[in-house]
Amino acid sequence: MSLVLENVDKIYGEGSRHPVHAVRTMNLDIADGEIIALLGSSGCGKTSTLRMVAGFETVSHGTINLAGRRIDTLPPARRGVAMAFEGYALYPPLTIAENIGFALRGERRDKAAVEQEVREVADLLEIGPILGRKPNGLSGGQQQRASLARALIRRADLHLLDEPMGQLEPQLRAVLRGRVKARIKERGYTAVLVTHDQGEANAMADRIAVMEAGVLQQFGSPADLRERPANLFVGTFFGEPPMNTLPGRATAQGFEALDEAGAVALRILAPLPPGIEPGRDVVLGLRPHRLHLGTGAFQGEVVSNQWLGDQAHVAIEAAGRMLIGIHPERFGARLGSTVPFGFDPADLHVFDKASGIALAHGAVS
Ligand SMILES: Nc1ncnc2c1ncn2[C@@H]1O[C@H](COP(=O)(O)OP(=O)(O)O)[C@@H](O)[C@H]1O
Ligand SMILES: [Mg+2]
Repeated sequence: MSLVLENVDKIYGEGSRHPVHAVRTMNLDIADGEIIALLGSSGCGKTSTLRMVAGFETVSHGTINLAGRRIDTLPPARRGVAMAFEGYALYPPLTIAENIGFALRGERRDKAAVEQEVREVADLLEIGPILGRKPNGLSGGQQQRASLARALIRRADLHLLDEPMGQLEPQLRAVLRGRVKARIKERGYTAVLVTHDQGEANAMADRIAVMEAGVLQQFGSPADLRERPANLFVGTFFGEPPMNTLPGRATAQGFEALDEAGAVALRILAPLPPGIEPGRDVVLGLRPHRLHLGTGAFQGEVVSNQWLGDQAHVAIEAAGRMLIGIHPERFGARLGSTVPFGFDPADLHVFDKASGIALAHGAVS
């Protein structure tokens, strides 16, 4: 079902001497059947947002609507929301099977049917063999999958998954990402996934909401975030390895990248995009795979050169800055050697230096 957050704030200890403003004027509009990810570093307000939707935290200001019905004033049990908690929250006296089927048994469903469903979701998450065990003594990864199973088994209007796979080995995580996504999509569920792992957000979410310090930075598809980052924060946070950044200035001929002393280090000839006037202080952003090594108008010193098995990551020092380039093949340059490099000005992202807001994506638009 569609979920709409309108101007939602969370202030812990509001009115106390040390309030914590964890979520600030959050607006999100999530479509029925959509999977979205709340992505951001630790402490940025992801869990607080999720717990307000589930009803385990009060909303300080603003409203939350699910399927057109206001829910932030309702007790958790009446919101139609299933949640997998960051800390698992399993009942210690119950077996894993009983934990997973708990909500279904509460619905007085047929016992054999419940067992069948528990078995099925346990198989999906590779925890079939531990269904008879109790949570104590199980690994974090096993408890986490039991908690995820308990949420996924429910037919709820909304599924909230808080870092549901953080404890798993990378290989298992990669497999389960695909399975969990397929299950959510098959059933037409709407889901909010919380993660600090952009690979997970990319793999599972239709759209990603990037948060930082309690503030929503951008809400868009993975391609939007990559190709049209709304600001310098999203530009450098989203994408691996991170976007290269060069502080500089717009000129009548294009851009000048400046070194740390403020001297001109690179001149980039390109028509200025509309809305950027000569003299504007900017930060230029260039994705590592858009930096071409071994050819181009500029020179840099190779400071590291790593072959990752399918591509090379090469760090070069130029313009008094460190720039990372991705080369599709082994790059045969020794450390300390000087190599040419270049890029197409059309691949530059231009941000306002003072505000960080994106001014243009592609200097030639
Ligand atoms: N119960 C609480 N009381 C006071 N501050 C809290 C509480 N829960 C979270 N916070 C603070 O709110 C901020 C956001 O936390 P959280 O939502 O858990 O972030 P995330 O899930 O993104 O790591 C952090 O600064 C955290 O310390
Ligand atoms: Mg959290």
